[in-house]
Amino acid sequence: MTTPSDIIIEALNGLVPRVALVLGSGLGGLVAAVDDAVHVPYARLEGFPKSGVSGHAGEVVAGTIGGTPVLLLSGRVHYYEKGDAAAMRPVLEVLQGLGIEKLILTNAAGSLREDLPPGSVMLIEDHINFSGTNPLIGEETDARFVGLTSAYDAGLRAAIEKAADEEGIAIGHGVYMWFSGPSFETPAEIRMARVMGADAVGMSTVPEVILGRFLGLDCAACSVITNYAAGMTGGELSHTETKDMAPIGGSKLQAILTRAIAEME
Ligand code: HPA
Repeated sequence: MTTPSDIIIEALNGLVPRVALVLGSGLGGLVAAVDDAVHVPYARLEGFPKSGVSGHAGEVVAGTIGGTPVLLLSGRVHYYEKGDAAAMRPVLEVLQGLGIEKLILTNAAGSLREDLPPGSVMLIEDHINFSGTNPLIGEETDARFVGLTSAYDAGLRAAIEKAADEEGIAIGHGVYMWFSGPSFETPAEIRMARVMGADAVGMSTVPEVILGRFLGLDCAACSVITNYAAGMTGGELSHTETKDMAPIGGSKLQAILTRAIAEME
């Protein structure tokens, strides 16, 4: 049987990437930054999830960005799709087996801060897991007791900040709070989130960071702000808004990450 690793190694055509990127809703534009891109649909890769969320393509893209070998995961599966917080575990295990050391995650998020308006980019410094679950539930080894004091790698964060600075693009910093979704938050929940220390809210990324740390990967994550969080503007939130707004901050994030990856290694 041809394993996902075999298929991705073939797509890599001799490249040995150390960095992988997970692209969130509406952020597939980064695929265009990949030179000599080879596309492998998740459907060809045993164990890879089939995301049913519109705006998520579901493919691995192998190639280089600014000369640095890279693997892109365009499309992720979310906890809210099947109730499985560990849905991305098989994918991340394959990446780790291929020699990936650094995992950069992106997402669309709602902002709790007036100074982080829709269209802006936020580097995640820390997270709050408000989902009530954890992707390592059921893991039987002591490795499940993963330390998350430095979940977001200082070196990777510095590289992303430097790239943003060089591109002349403002990047905010903050705490991302993971809600299970798929319904959006209520205004009362957003008031609670603010008291708890959240700067942005979203429905992804945190389980992947927990799994990434479990697998020994250095992790970093960036949010593209698509909206002010519930109750901040009076309007209703929608996935259409997320998809429509994501490319605006997404093009900034694309410029930042393209440079950060090009300058790696
Ligand atoms: N809440 C949760 N997830 C999101 C939001 C939001 O306001 N915007 C984009 N993803």
